[in-house]
Amino acid sequence: ITTAVSKQLLPIYDKPLIFYPISTLMLAGIREQLIITTPRDQKAFKELLGDGSRFGMTFKYEIQETPRGLAEAFIIGRDFVGESKVALALGDNLFHGSGLGFQLKELTDRPGATIFAYKVSDPQNYGVVEFDTAGNAVSLEEKPLQPKSNFAVPGLYFYDNAVLDIAAGVKPSKRGELEITSINQEYLVQQNLYVQVLPRGTAWLDTGTPENLLAAATYVKIIEARQGYKIACLEEIAWRNGWISDSELATRADEYKSSPFATYLRGLLN
Ligand code: G1P
Repeated sequence: ITTAVSKQLLPIYDKPLIFYPISTLMLAGIREQLIITTPRDQKAFKELLGDGSRFGMTFKYEIQETPRGLAEAFIIGRDFVGESKVALALGDNLFHGSGLGFQLKELTDRPGATIFAYKVSDPQNYGVVEFDTAGNAVSLEEKPLQPKSNFAVPGLYFYDNAVLDIAAGVKPSKRGELEITSINQEYLVQQNLYVQVLPRGTAWLDTGTPENLLAAATYVKIIEARQGYKIACLEEIAWRNGWISDSELATRADEYKSSPFATYLRGLLN
């Protein structure tokens, strides 16, 4: 499927996959986002998302020349991050759940690192966190053959500025990648890692296989059809965050002409 198209541009029901992680960051109140792509795909992402002004946001773009691992985001993004704290969202991770936005907003100003744990039935496919009986994280492993727990670490991470130097010092793993798990292990060693278990009512969906892609699309379709609300509607979130005004939302709706999406945006104003 991805021979000619980036996976993150594939549709999950009614919008491209990347809209979901962008919306998660928006719900955390993050208005400046750096989109890191392959050299081939940057043009398409720019065409899709632009400079972010449509959403009252700023989107910047950088290229990862080869797939050297997730931790490289903080080397590539060093100037973008500057002196700030920073969050990383993987382009193919979909989160949904009641109150998730409120919860995430509280995480953007913490010291150290905040990551999540989510119970799954196939932990060997993920970063895995082990807890002691008091609920403290005691170990982290990347795709262990024999996982020490069922708690996977989803692709959403909040860091203080120290992450830039930690990332710069990460050595490639056995699979030759700069692992995000290595960064989190360093925070764990420094006793500066906070792991928040996501409530079981939260959906964290993976899109790594054709089955998962279809399941995620079906999930979005069912919730949207039932409630009449859209998941990951960037215009809606920007408007609810106060980043675009009523009249800007109306303009966005007009840009979609007579499509059902335009009707949805106009419906919000009513
Ligand atoms: C990456 C991370 C892994 C994390 C997963 C979440 O794995 O390395 O720790 O659990 O994302 O989706 P990938 O599937 O990109 O190899």
